[in-house]
Amino acid sequence: METPSLWVMQQILVTLILLIQSSVAVNRDNFKTCQQSGFCKRHRAMTPGQSAYEVLTETVNVQSTSVNLQLLNTVTNVKLTLELSGLERSTARIKINEVEPIKQRYEIPIGDVLVEEPKRQGLKKLEQTSQSLTLGIEKNKIVISFKPFRIDFYTEDEPVVSINAQGLLKFEHYRHKQGWLNKAGSSIFSWFSAPFREAQPEENVEEAKEGEEPKEGDENAEEKPAEEEQKKDEEEPDLWEETFKSFTDSKPHGPSSVGLDVSFPGFENVYGIPEHADDFSLKTTKDTDPYRLFNLDVFEYELYNPMALYGAVPVMMAHNEKNTVGIFWHNAAETWIDIKSNVADKNFFSKVADFFKQDSDIPQTDTHWFSESGVIDLFVMLGPKPKDVFKQYAVLTGTTPVPPLFSIAYHQCRWNYNDQDDVRNVDANMDKFDIPFDVIWLDIEHTDGKRYFTWDGNKFSHSVDMINNVASKGRKMVTIVDPHLKKDDNYKVYADAKSKDLLVKNKDGNEYDGWCWPGSSAWPDFTDPEVRKWWESKFLLSEYEGSTNDLHTWNDMNEPSVFNGPEISFHRDAKHHHGWENRDVHNIYGHLVQQATADGLILRSDHKERPFVLTRSFFAGSQRNGAVWTGDNIGEWSHLKVSNPMLLSLNLVGITFAGADVGGFFKNPDPELLTRWWQAGAFQPFFRSHAHIDTKRREPYLLPDNNMKIVRNAIRARYTFLPYWYTVFYNTYKNGGPVMQPLWAEYPEDKLTFKMDDQFLIGPSLLVKPITEQGGTGTNVYFPGANDVWYDILTAEKYLGGKSIYVNAPLEKIPVFQRGGSVIPRKMRVRRSSGLMHDDPITLFICLDRQGKASGDMYADDYHTFQYQKGKYLHRQFTFSNNKLTNSNADKNGVFETKEWIERILILGVLKKPNGVAIKIGNQQQQLAFGYDPNTSLLAIKKPGTKLQEDFVITLL
Ligand code: NOJ
Repeated sequence: METPSLWVMQQILVTLILLIQSSVAVNRDNFKTCQQSGFCKRHRAMTPGQSAYEVLTETVNVQSTSVNLQLLNTVTNVKLTLELSGLERSTARIKINEVEPIKQRYEIPIGDVLVEEPKRQGLKKLEQTSQSLTLGIEKNKIVISFKPFRIDFYTEDEPVVSINAQGLLKFEHYRHKQGWLNKAGSSIFSWFSAPFREAQPEENVEEAKEGEEPKEGDENAEEKPAEEEQKKDEEEPDLWEETFKSFTDSKPHGPSSVGLDVSFPGFENVYGIPEHADDFSLKTTKDTDPYRLFNLDVFEYELYNPMALYGAVPVMMAHNEKNTVGIFWHNAAETWIDIKSNVADKNFFSKVADFFKQDSDIPQTDTHWFSESGVIDLFVMLGPKPKDVFKQYAVLTGTTPVPPLFSIAYHQCRWNYNDQDDVRNVDANMDKFDIPFDVIWLDIEHTDGKRYFTWDGNKFSHSVDMINNVASKGRKMVTIVDPHLKKDDNYKVYADAKSKDLLVKNKDGNEYDGWCWPGSSAWPDFTDPEVRKWWESKFLLSEYEGSTNDLHTWNDMNEPSVFNGPEISFHRDAKHHHGWENRDVHNIYGHLVQQATADGLILRSDHKERPFVLTRSFFAGSQRNGAVWTGDNIGEWSHLKVSNPMLLSLNLVGITFAGADVGGFFKNPDPELLTRWWQAGAFQPFFRSHAHIDTKRREPYLLPDNNMKIVRNAIRARYTFLPYWYTVFYNTYKNGGPVMQPLWAEYPEDKLTFKMDDQFLIGPSLLVKPITEQGGTGTNVYFPGANDVWYDILTAEKYLGGKSIYVNAPLEKIPVFQRGGSVIPRKMRVRRSSGLMHDDPITLFICLDRQGKASGDMYADDYHTFQYQKGKYLHRQFTFSNNKLTNSNADKNGVFETKEWIERILILGVLKKPNGVAIKIGNQQQQLAFGYDPNTSLLAIKKPGTKLQEDFVITLL
């Protein structure tokens, strides 16, 4: 039990943190720069040159799906083992490790990030010479060059990815500290001094050429270099201990980093590696730090820089008119990525075009990746088209299961809804003002002293009644469950974790102690599968008292955030399962918190109901566990604007269910900004308004009347489009790829779209350009597709594709356009919640292309259980051509009886009024009523009245 004075101190600390949070911009001093990180400095100091590594040709062993070989560092004599395997769908995997490490290196267990052991596929040996080995994988070619070592990947004979072309492969092998201290310069010296040697590639080249590299036991050969190395070692303070501010990282295993360069010949644009508050097309890091991937809690983050944020997905895609490729750096440690060049530049070393004596005016992007520990485990996805890469990545790390419908509707959140009456009032006011919503959220103040899985007994004495009242309108609730546990032996979750020894340890093996919202806290070790099982059980209704099946979960602070820890997180030498250090697993901790939480909600319903879990921290694969949001943004126009590239980056690497706090978390935005933000959020995948505890209340009904009405319309628009959103989510669940898409995902050859990130597509058919400028009353919209045509969703105005056109957008207008050639299902009878709309009728919005054709689909199921994974679903295909509309089954494996029916069909682009409209179902044919407006070329077919699952043909006579 804590003493009262300790409690007071804790409260003061937490209040101070709150004050800091509400008053200042990011405190850069809290976070390391590359210069302050030993391994970052060491890797960055390397300059491109000829690699010190070569393939030991006698070790090359080609098998049916893989090649194994050893690499020798010609300067240090250290050997590495490399396995290159062919995987299904034009993907290759390269793993590099030490041949005989003195300590095992961390590898992410299968199932944590990769869904399963990737399936291998044949590698064809095309040619082997003394210089190189050429392999074929589907239509692609892989060439491993031996001296110096590099690997080049080709698609249709064009180089697309090159590994170690810049010669930056560096592997800090584990070593004994006493060797480092051995002043005599023993024979193992050259072995552990590799990192410094590698920083001088030219010297390496010379030594390699002359064949004079020192041999173990050859004392004369050793003497001079060893002395030099020793000097450098002594000058290098960061190898065995590293200090940042007042924190000392004990680094018991010494240096252990790994790094490699990856070049993308022919590509000017690369994307991905979220999370950064930056442009979608990544910038070179020539004048900045490298992009950093290290999950951190960053208050009031700055925009347009490469600083780390809450989550990390080490996946990069490169795209040009012909090809799209991707790489996935499967490593859970802190990672930095330099992007060195992305222009046609004849003068840099690694020019792949020069290597192949091709036209050297082609652009090339050079990247350099380095992580603090682990192994090099790189997946190369060879496309060649955007959708191929999306699928290739989806096969590795999975996709987002179809979210329960309520979770893609509108969420109402703030820190905090104060008590059950407050919840009741917000719920009632939303109804009073006719604003639909599906979920109301409770932040940390709902708990008994920040003890998660509990309730503040005064404020939420009747939590079950409260939830049931909300649920009676088809709505849900969410409570926050953070991973820090208050160290209070009377708090049963903590006491249980402590007694079962489930908590993260400090370097000495004692329970890790840090500060977070409850004061002194401990953290369950989510890297341990047993701990995850234990955590799952905490969501059972018998354990989480006062909860019901209508309560879902929000995981926050799971980077994890430790207020008094280095960089506001765990100490790197904190210990996890099997003795791994936090430095090894840091970036997957938050991901595993969400995974265990989602599994807990699934367990609670005996595997029947789909869970909903929002997480702040994430990693590759987090898409499988629910939604992600972009953390503590600010209620400023710039933050509204950056939400688009941030969400595009997340979507590109599979984190499709992503959103930003609508309205901005900090500060009190004016009604105009709030209105524009709600409008943007209505067309982003995860749609939740949220606000800091110190902000003024800003539920939509509190806005000035005009703004309230506009916001209400935006939210209602979201509800009308839910069948389309749901279908888009289903399709990405099946095939991978983004829900919120860059234009180039659908128009891969259109160069003008490659840097565009202020407009985007939802699925294939909705083009959105949110207004993100103060006072904006219009905007230039780029309509892609020279042969395409687009229709304004409100006015039916028609825009020809292939150009930018100025579109008026006064406050009440969201520039959203439907692609000609598409069919979008909508539900136009908006009710209080999506739960009340499950069985509602559908309106098909059909926009014809220039050939008078259109197609689209609609996916439906029970909207909340896992039955769809057992074939209980409907996937319908709508096709319009030759004046005939057919509704047919898109997938015979799905069978589901729905009450949804087709109430109306609106067809835009019908050039002349038909003489009649007839529907044929089986052998039955009958005429349908219709109306026609020649000004908008709109044909409205009034009441087909057919069930969604009923095949029909409608003919315009
Ligand atoms: C930080 C989160 O980012 C924010 O959304 C939340 O309201 C506060 N923690 C309090 O839980």
